[in-house]
Amino acid sequence: MTEPLNARDIDATYAWYRAMGVAEFTAEAPTDWFDLERQIAARREAAKARPVEAKPARPVAPTARPPSMDRRPETPRPPAIPPATAMRQQPDAPPAIRRPPPAAPDQAVMTARTQAAKAQSLAELRAILERFDGCGLKATAKSLCFYRGVEKARIMLIGEAPGRDEDLAGKPFVGPAGQLLDKMLASIGLDESTVHITNVVYWRPPGNRTPTPQEVQVCEPFLERQIALVAPEVVLLLGGAAAKQVLDSQDGIMRLRGKWRDLEKGGKRYRAIATLHPAYLLRTPNAKKQAWRDLLMVEAALGASR
Ligand code: URA
Repeated sequence: MTEPLNARDIDATYAWYRAMGVAEFTAEAPTDWFDLERQIAARREAAKARPVEAKPARPVAPTARPPSMDRRPETPRPPAIPPATAMRQQPDAPPAIRRPPPAAPDQAVMTARTQAAKAQSLAELRAILERFDGCGLKATAKSLCFYRGVEKARIMLIGEAPGRDEDLAGKPFVGPAGQLLDKMLASIGLDESTVHITNVVYWRPPGNRTPTPQEVQVCEPFLERQIALVAPEVVLLLGGAAAKQVLDSQDGIMRLRGKWRDLEKGGKRYRAIATLHPAYLLRTPNAKKQAWRDLLMVEAALGASR
């Protein structure tokens, strides 16, 4: 039996939600993002019971990952009380906002492919993304974070996902990690007027959690189209999540970084290289020397083809 809640616990839970970026209600029942194994087992059972039924997509559990190499510190665990109940009992809680449920996952990916293929320019791609409802992240994010920088760039940078600052600004990499990224770029003579910066997902995951494979998958056709439209010579992948996704690898970032790879996307070839995520570098300044080596490789590649 759950203990009755007292006012202090309710306040603590609410404060925790706010700190994690939860700004609105999206469902009656809470999703426990931490109980990965139970969720996977429950989903497997549910899928067995309904083999052909098309279900609206709901966010699934985050991927397990080593916390230290990625863009964000571990998300702290919430207080051990039932959060949805606490939020329902909060007297000044905002009214629930009802949105149409996102499309079923496969259907959403198919729609994403068809829609993305139509875009003949980044402006068209942005307009398509603004209308697209197949990614569950859109329901909780404030803004679409499409890209920062120029439309045509010799170098395209791809990170993991927008955070709070990016969600507020509607642009990728504008918070502390973005500021470090700008300094890193400046050190090799690049800035916003010469680069194109984006992420593998276009909306902020609630509480800055790692985007789920489903969320990444549904954004992938748009990212592929974006790469084709930007037509960069070099793709620089920031952090493990982006590197694994774009390079389609299970290896960790320490294995992936610092090596040139041939990237084939949408029938075209690009040179890609991965480096450490600036958010990780902020927490681990000792690792900056590795990132510096990677940046020098990028500088040499761009210099060589100038
Ligand atoms: N971290 C990312 O991976 N992307 C952003 O846009 C900001 C922080």
